[in-house]
Amino acid sequence: MLAIIGGSGLTQLPGLHISRREVVRTPYGMPSGALTFGELEGHPIVFLARHGHGHTIPPHLVNYRANLWALHAQKVTHVVSIATVGGIHPDFHPGRLAVPDQIIDYSHGRETTYAEYGNSDQVTHQDFTWPYCDEMRQRCMTALKEAGEDFLAGGVYGCVQGPRLETRAEIERMARDGCDMVGMTGMPEACLAKELGLCYAAIAASVNWAAGRGDSTQAIDAAAIEGRMAEMMQRVRDVLVRMARLNYI
Ligand code: HPA
Repeated sequence: MLAIIGGSGLTQLPGLHISRREVVRTPYGMPSGALTFGELEGHPIVFLARHGHGHTIPPHLVNYRANLWALHAQKVTHVVSIATVGGIHPDFHPGRLAVPDQIIDYSHGRETTYAEYGNSDQVTHQDFTWPYCDEMRQRCMTALKEAGEDFLAGGVYGCVQGPRLETRAEIERMARDGCDMVGMTGMPEACLAKELGLCYAAIAASVNWAAGRGDSTQAIDAAAIEGRMAEMMQRVRDVLVRMARLNYI
């Protein structure tokens, strides 16, 4: 089954015919909210609002382990994560979507693994060369093409700690590192999904130029972000409907 993790601007999924909500307890605590099971135009999916239904959980306090564990426990096999980001690459202007293929993690102090004392005999090291599931990336791109989106078919997602935005110098450094976009929630979500064997990819929505770039040279305009996010999430919903039509076993 397909799971959709909605980020900022997507705390609910309009058009989802809800069949049930389930509060799933996990060994890692409670997920961000109840899992919402339903159908998108006749196709079954499960939806989880990463920041909670009322958008109250900041990026650094999201219980990523519980979120992914709960989905896995409910027989989810594929996950598409919706992530709002700031655009760093000159081609990733606000209003554009992307399917990143790489990650650099600048976040800290988050629970990044299920490996703990007592839950395995051997120390293992999860391969993370290609952090996203290629099959899921292809599905995202197929749906984006069908929806007529002019998206970026790759890119490096730089995950920062937040909740504050970055300085200009931080973005300059991230650009030198090779980051094409900056967001706050891509990690540890991606590596936890990989540990659980979930086929996971992200659709990133550029809702502003990153600090110091484009029209963000003096400051990032929060009001402009809100408007753009609402418009972009309508388009994302259309992409998600197309994704739900594909088969997930
Ligand atoms: N920085 C970090 N995270 C973000 C941004 C940004 O500029 N825009 C949306 N999420």
